[in-house]
Amino acid sequence: MTEVSTNGAAGPLASSHSGPQLDGETRTGGHRIAVVGATGAVGTVMLQCLRERGLDRDNEIVLFATARSAGRVIDGRTVQALEPGVNLSGIDIALFSAGGGTSKEWAPRFVEAGATVIDNSSAFRRDPTVPLVVSEVNPHALRDHRGLIANPNCSTMQLMVALAPIHREAGISRLVVSTYQSVSGTGQKALEELDAEARAALAGERLPEPRVYPDHIAFNVIGAAGNFVDGDDHTDEERKMMFETCKILEDDEIAVAVTCVRVPVRVGHSESVNIETREHLSIERARELLASAPGLILEDVPSPLRAEGRDEVYVGRLRRDPTHPNGLAMFVVADNLRKGAATNAVQIAELLIRNHQIRQASEVQQ
Ligand SMILES: NC(=O)c1ccc[n+]([C@@H]2O[C@H](COP(=O)([O-])OP(=O)(O)OC[C@H]3O[C@@H](n4cnc5c(N)ncnc54)[C@H](OP(=O)(O)O)[C@@H]3O)[C@@H](O)[C@H]2O)c1
Repeated sequence: MTEVSTNGAAGPLASSHSGPQLDGETRTGGHRIAVVGATGAVGTVMLQCLRERGLDRDNEIVLFATARSAGRVIDGRTVQALEPGVNLSGIDIALFSAGGGTSKEWAPRFVEAGATVIDNSSAFRRDPTVPLVVSEVNPHALRDHRGLIANPNCSTMQLMVALAPIHREAGISRLVVSTYQSVSGTGQKALEELDAEARAALAGERLPEPRVYPDHIAFNVIGAAGNFVDGDDHTDEERKMMFETCKILEDDEIAVAVTCVRVPVRVGHSESVNIETREHLSIERARELLASAPGLILEDVPSPLRAEGRDEVYVGRLRRDPTHPNGLAMFVVADNLRKGAATNAVQIAELLIRNHQIRQASEVQQ
């Protein structure tokens, strides 16, 4: 059984306005959109999303990466190095996916130059003045942005699409989540590490020393995804899900227990999710809610291979938890590079354009 919900919150924009901008007119085209980190795992998919959703037709797309990539031509556009002296004027929207350090250093400069920044890193997610937005879940949070918007962590993103309808109806009091996170979630270098190890293993050769992960990832499972910071017994990846769930669902009372695990899957994060609701929710009603939720496909047993390249979040194994009267269990899968990162960032850009929420340079600099 597969039930498909097509009522996405931020579908493709019809680029009906090209040419000169008229005062007060809704501009779907005519914007300059920067992709920072355009050569990376997420940046590459971002460019695909912009193209697929028609945003590259009437808007100018400009690409940034490090000096190493400067001069590379992608889709007919030349990559510029993001370095001191670079011209940031005239950029309306900047999609950042170049790591937290780059975001901390450069996002404020883009904002100061007049851009509205949508940042994929964790640099600003905890800042109470920065909205943390999943396009189907809390688009209203964009209303008060000050030039900077944070895209949630990839594992949290897909979880929110699946949980928001249940939280709205019955209130979630507690979650227990175990993730099975793909290697692309760590970026391009991690994918190369998986490939090199897998090739060596299949050829019966000695595996190369791991550089990205603490252990070999090919034909293995690493029981902690993310890093342990300052002696914490949870990884930073686990802490992100704990914090971001409450911020996005606007409810600090939700108790979130998380174990993040890395598995040798190239693309697509999976999650085993146990949910305890405040009010009783029948399994039939839960199924109904999920079947009509935007951006979500309800099926029996989702898998990352089938989710790869798709923008929707897949939910399956929906069942009662027999150990608790208000307990539900489900399995949630999505393409971490798409809905987990690039698609949501582009959907936010579409919402900003559609709702006239791109700040003007004059406003930002006040
Ligand atoms: N992968 C995911 O599933 C995922 C999901 C959500 C969020 N994110 C976040 O998105 C960001 C990028 O992740 P990724 O997986 O795409 O990493 P990646 O494959 O390693 O790509 C990093 C990109 O950033 C560029 N870059 C690095 N330092 C830079 C600098 N100082 N100035 C300009 N560009 C710079 C790189 O350019 P060069 O090619 O020139 O080195 C490359 O284009 C990270 O913050 C990550 O946490 C990733």
